Amino acid sequence: MHVIEAYNLSKIYKGTHVPALDNISLKIEQGQIFTLLGRNGAGKTTFVRICATQLLPTSGTLKVLGYDVISQAENIRKFISVVPQEGRPLRALTPWDHVYNWLKIRGEEKFIAKIKTEKILERFELLKVKDKPAMNLSGGMKQKILVAMATAVDADLLFLDEPTIGLDPVSRRQVWNLMQDLKKEGKTILLTTHYMDEAEILSDKIVIIDNGKIVKEGNINDLRKIIPQNIRMDISKKNIVDIEKLKEYGNVVEIGTDIIRLFTFESSIGELSNLAIKNKMSFNISPITLDDIFVHLVGDTIKNNKIK
Ligand SMILES: Nc1ncnc2c1ncn2[C@@H]1O[C@H](COP(=O)(O)OP(=O)(O)OP(=O)(O)O)[C@@H](O)[C@H]1O
Ligand SMILES: [Mg+2]
Repeated sequence: MHVIEAYNLSKIYKGTHVPALDNISLKIEQGQIFTLLGRNGAGKTTFVRICATQLLPTSGTLKVLGYDVISQAENIRKFISVVPQEGRPLRALTPWDHVYNWLKIRGEEKFIAKIKTEKILERFELLKVKDKPAMNLSGGMKQKILVAMATAVDADLLFLDEPTIGLDPVSRRQVWNLMQDLKKEGKTILLTTHYMDEAEILSDKIVIIDNGKIVKEGNINDLRKIIPQNIRMDISKKNIVDIEKLKEYGNVVEIGTDIIRLFTFESSIGELSNLAIKNKMSFNISPITLDDIFVHLVGDTIKNNKIK
C-alpha cells in the first residue's frame, strides 16, 4: 500500500517565478523509511510541508494515506506527526511539558501520556533535565525535545525534516534506533537529511531532488550502479608521484586540500595497489558511498573543479 502518492506536484511560492517543486511524481510505500536528498533550496521542506498539510500545492495532486491534501486535510492530520525544520521548543516550557501536553492534545489518557513521556525522555537522555525550561537547555537537547514530541505520539506516518541536525554522534544513533523501531511497528517515515551516512544506513528508498525536480530514485544498491567506477582510492596528495598515470585508471577528483580521490573499476584494484606500493604512496580503497553519488548527481560546481 502506498501512503503517499504525488502526481505532477508543483509549488510556486507567492511572489516568485521559479518553481520550488516542479512536476514531482512519486509514491511512498507503507512501512518504509523514505529519504529525500537534495542541496539547500532543492525543495525538500516544501514537499514535506505540503504532505504534512501545512502548505498548499500550486498544481498537481497529492494523496496522503488515501486522502487528498487540499480537500481532506483534516482527515490526514490525526494520523501524522512532524519534526519541522528549524522548529524550536517554547522557551519557558520544560521537556516534560512539551511531550506530555502534546500527547494529551493528541488524545492520550493522562496515565498513558505520563508513561509515554517518561519512556521517550529516558530514551533521549532528557529525564535528568525534564523540569528545566527549554531556554536553559543546549541546542541539541532542544532538538531532541522536538524529535521526542513527534515520535511519542502514535502516528502512522512521520515527517522528519532534518531531525538529527545539531545532535552529537551518540544522540544521532538514538534517533536512528528509534526510527528503526518505528519502522518495525509498520510506521512510515519521510526523512530529509544532509548526512549521507544517515541516509545510507536508514533508507529503504532514496529520492534525490534538485531545483524542484527528481534527479534519481532507488535504493542504495540502485544508486550505486549510477557510477560504473564504483571503487574509490584515496591517496594523500603529497605521496603522489605521477598523477597522469593515475588518470589512466579512472576519474581523479580533489577532496579537500590533501587528498586525491580516484574513482576506478574493481578490476583495476590489483594493478593500482601494486603501483601505489611500488611508489610508496599510502592509500585507502573502499566502495563508493552515497556521498560520492550525491556529488556526482547534483554537485555541478564541484564537478567543474574536477581534475578528471
Ligand atoms: N516561504 C517561501 N517563500 C518564497 N520562496 C520560498 C519559501 N520557502 C522556500 N522558498 C524557496 O523554495 C525553494 C525550496 O526551498 P526548500 O525550503 O523546500 O528547500 P530545501 O530542499 O528544504 O533546502 P534546505 O536543505 O536548505 O532545507 C528555495 O528556492 C527557497 O528559496
Ligand atoms: Mg529544508
